[in-house]
Amino acid sequence: MARKDGPITVCVINLKGGVGKSTIATLLCREALINRKKDVLAIDLDPQANLSQALMHYSYNQFLSEQWPSVVELFNGYQPPSASTGGPTGLTNNSVVQTITTIGDNTLQIIPSRFDFSDNLIDSARPDPRVLARFLAKNFKKKDLIIIDCAPTESILTRAAYHASRLVLIPVKPEYFATIGFPLLQESLTSFRKQNRGHRIDVSGIVINNAFYDGGNNGGPEKKRALGDIESEALINGWRIFNNEIPFSRGFPKITRGDHSYTGNAVMFRYFANEFFDQIGL
Ligand SMILES: Nc1ncnc2c1ncn2[C@@H]1O[C@H](COP(=O)(O)OP(=O)(O)O)[C@@H](O)[C@H]1O
Ligand SMILES: [Mg+2]
Repeated sequence: MARKDGPITVCVINLKGGVGKSTIATLLCREALINRKKDVLAIDLDPQANLSQALMHYSYNQFLSEQWPSVVELFNGYQPPSASTGGPTGLTNNSVVQTITTIGDNTLQIIPSRFDFSDNLIDSARPDPRVLARFLAKNFKKKDLIIIDCAPTESILTRAAYHASRLVLIPVKPEYFATIGFPLLQESLTSFRKQNRGHRIDVSGIVINNAFYDGGNNGGPEKKRALGDIESEALINGWRIFNNEIPFSRGFPKITRGDHSYTGNAVMFRYFANEFFDQIGL
C-alpha cells in the first residue's frame, strides 16, 4: 500500500550515543508494518549496524558472509565483483534491500549497514551526500514510511540523512547532560537549511526515552532536573516534546535481540508510536 504522495522519510538522530535511536527506529518500523499496515523501508546509516542487527537477527551474519549489498555499495553506486559475477554490477531497489517481514501487500525491508562503512567513505575522494536521497527518490516511491537510523557523530552521513529526510525525530534520555547534543544538532540543521533552501526539513519532536532503572519513583529528582533542562532547551529551539514517554523496560534490549519471551512495559512503546504516526499523518 503506497501513500498517495510517496513515502514520508524520517531520520532518527541525536548527536549523543546510547539514547535509544536504534531501538526506537527498530520498533517504529515494526509498529508501522504490523499495527498501521504500512509498507516500510529501514535504512541503517550507522557503521555500528545496530538497526541492521536488530531487524535482521541471524540473517545479518549471512548478509556479511555472503557479501550482500549494503549502504556501502549504495554510496559507491555499484556492487563489486563476487563469486557469481565477472565484474561490477549495478544496484537496483531489489538488490540493495533485505526483506524482514511481509504482511499482505506490505513489507518491512532494510538497507543494512556494515562495519567498514565509515572507513569506506573516508577513503572515497568526496562522497556525495545526495546519493541516498537520489536513490530513494528513484527506487522507493511506493513505500509509505522510510526510517533512517543515524550515527551519534556528525559526518557526511548526517548530511546524507538530512538530504533524504522530511522529518527529524530526536530521542533523549532524561539524565545529566541530556541536552548536550541539542545546540550542535540545531546548528547542523540550520546550516543544512541555509545551503538547501528548496528542502523542507522539520523536527517532528523530541521523544523522552526513560532508559534507566527508575527505582519505582519514576526517575526521582535527577530525572526531573533533566526533564526541566530538556523542556527549556526544546523551547529555545522551537522543538515540541511528544506527550508519550517511552518507559524503561528490560524488554527493549530483549526484543531488539529477537527474544520476545519477555516484553514487560516495552508494550507501552505503542503509545508513543501511535502519537508519532498520528502526527505525521501515517
Ligand atoms: N527504554 C529503554 N529501556 C531499557 N533499555 C533501553 C531503552 N532504550 C534503549 N535501551 C537500551 O540502551 C542501549 C542503547 O540503546 P540504542 O537504541 O542502541 O541507542 P543509540 O542508538 O542511541 O546509541 C541498548 O542496549 C538498548 O537496548
Ligand atoms: Mg544506534
